[in-house]
Amino acid sequence: MQSAPNLVLVGPMGSGKSSIGRRLAERFGLAFTDADREIEARTGASVATIFDCEGEAGFRARERAMLAELLAGESTVVATGGGAVLDPDTRRLLRRRGFVVHLHVGVAQQLERLARDRTRPLLAGEDRAAVLQRLAETREPLYAETADLRFDTDTLSSAETAAALGHLLDAQWRHVASNEGSPASHQAST
Ligand code: S3P
Repeated sequence: MQSAPNLVLVGPMGSGKSSIGRRLAERFGLAFTDADREIEARTGASVATIFDCEGEAGFRARERAMLAELLAGESTVVATGGGAVLDPDTRRLLRRRGFVVHLHVGVAQQLERLARDRTRPLLAGEDRAAVLQRLAETREPLYAETADLRFDTDTLSSAETAAALGHLLDAQWRHVASNEGSPASHQAST
């Protein structure tokens, strides 16, 4: 069993990082943050607007800083954006500060789940299937490199995924409580 202070979800758009993250946080009694929603709340601008004004590079810098802040503490579940793993410093940070779960989803399922979505700037063009395929090819190795555990969400609802993943995490991940090593817990264990 691995110890890590936080639980981090990575994976492509439509893999269910936010809804599954929220459910897992509830199961483990931890706080939950969606990094993209937090960036939007802090800047007062949508992810699409940040892409428009600052380009993808500007968004990635904000994403890296946001994740560093969220993961500086302990006892939190964080859903990252699908492209967070592109940045090598972000990959190192996620690995250092979290038990990282890669939620996998195939392109056909992504197209279904995201059919009505108009908020994601990378899907604003015509050929969504081609874009998602290309992203998958470049990013799959990065998800694999970053993650401690891979879980396929293709055939499951978010509730089913969270339940199954919760069981696996019970066995594979030990949350590092923030008071571990404090004098009180040291006394209690001796
Ligand atoms: C992105 C995924 C989005 C968001 C932004 C860029 C990507 O997050 O961060 O639109 O590069 O794949 P979700 O994975 O939550 O959709």
